[in-house]
Amino acid sequence: MASPDPLFGTPTDVFERIRAFRRDLHQHPELSWQEQRTMKSIAARLAELGVAHRAGVAGTGVIADLPGLADGPIIALRADTDALPVHEETGLSFSSTHEGVMHACGHDGHTSMLLGATEMLLRDPPPTPVRLIWQPAEERAEGAPALIEEGVLEGVAMIFGGHVDRHYPPGFMAVTHGAVNASTDMFRIEIRGRGGHGARPHEALDAVVVGSLMVTAIQTIVSREINPAHPSVISVGVFEAGTAPNVIAGRARLEGTIRAQDATVRAHLQQSLERVASAIGMLHDALVTFELIEGTPPLINEGVAVELAQQAAISVLGEANVGPLATANMGGEDFACYLEHVPGCYVRFGGQVAGRESFPAHSSQFDFDERTLAMGAAWFNAVARHAGRSLLGGAA
Ligand code: NI
Repeated sequence: MASPDPLFGTPTDVFERIRAFRRDLHQHPELSWQEQRTMKSIAARLAELGVAHRAGVAGTGVIADLPGLADGPIIALRADTDALPVHEETGLSFSSTHEGVMHACGHDGHTSMLLGATEMLLRDPPPTPVRLIWQPAEERAEGAPALIEEGVLEGVAMIFGGHVDRHYPPGFMAVTHGAVNASTDMFRIEIRGRGGHGARPHEALDAVVVGSLMVTAIQTIVSREINPAHPSVISVGVFEAGTAPNVIAGRARLEGTIRAQDATVRAHLQQSLERVASAIGMLHDALVTFELIEGTPPLINEGVAVELAQQAAISVLGEANVGPLATANMGGEDFACYLEHVPGCYVRFGGQVAGRESFPAHSSQFDFDERTLAMGAAWFNAVARHAGRSLLGGAA
């Protein structure tokens, strides 16, 4: 049964406030670690609501604790706040006024949803305390580790978060058991050959040829070594070499990204990449250095938190409007860092704009249906209650 309420149970006045809040944020997007205005806006809103909070956590984070009816373990709800270095081309009346910066990933929406949930949790207190986390710098995968370092998970029993998703309509949520986002490691390979004259290759050691063979050989790791049932990607995004058409390049640099949805596959990709790079170097007598820059782990939803997220979504939307993700997402999400410490679940909020072409996250034309704000607020509110009741030993 679809919810008969177009706002999914979110009070109209709450929806109108968070929509206005979202539009204001959208007009004033800020890059990772620069979310000063965003932080102040969130803090000002919390102050208006009479909610004690801490701003400036790990720089630009905002944390607030709401009391529950009973003391007990804390349920954490997390939203991310940062924007991207993208020039907005949506044509929206509330387009970015910050040149070259855009909320192209919907974090303005996540931030506003959580403020909506805050109001609903204040009106009708949840069973156990709730910690609200507005996290900066998700796009750089640095915000979550930084907040964890600041102790935001102290006393937290479970954590929940989510992302708007253009693949589903508003009124639908994807809640998945298992992997929902990939690990995001980067690598850098430096190749040292010997430069020389383009006409006399025998006197040189061509780093472009060595690099080219490496790029091709790297493609066989995913296609020939990894079980095709396990999604994984290695992409070379940078290949820099050379200065002139008639000069053989003595150096080349490759950089790329490694994605996996499973810890074992992730380790396999990392090791194979280093092996292939050094073997190709050896084959051609070039000096190769390999550097791995570890990113976030895969985001894997596990355990009772997934059931609770699901039940909360069903309570808001009805059973027919909650399902698993249709396809694996090879993007990263630093929410995975929280799940290394506490159980939790990361969901997707349908945000497709009806009757219009939908553009992917990080696109200059990205947008989402604003009813998603109401759905997200209602779900955050519901999941805090379901999880709280479950922790107190009652039925979820
Ligand atoms: Ni995002």
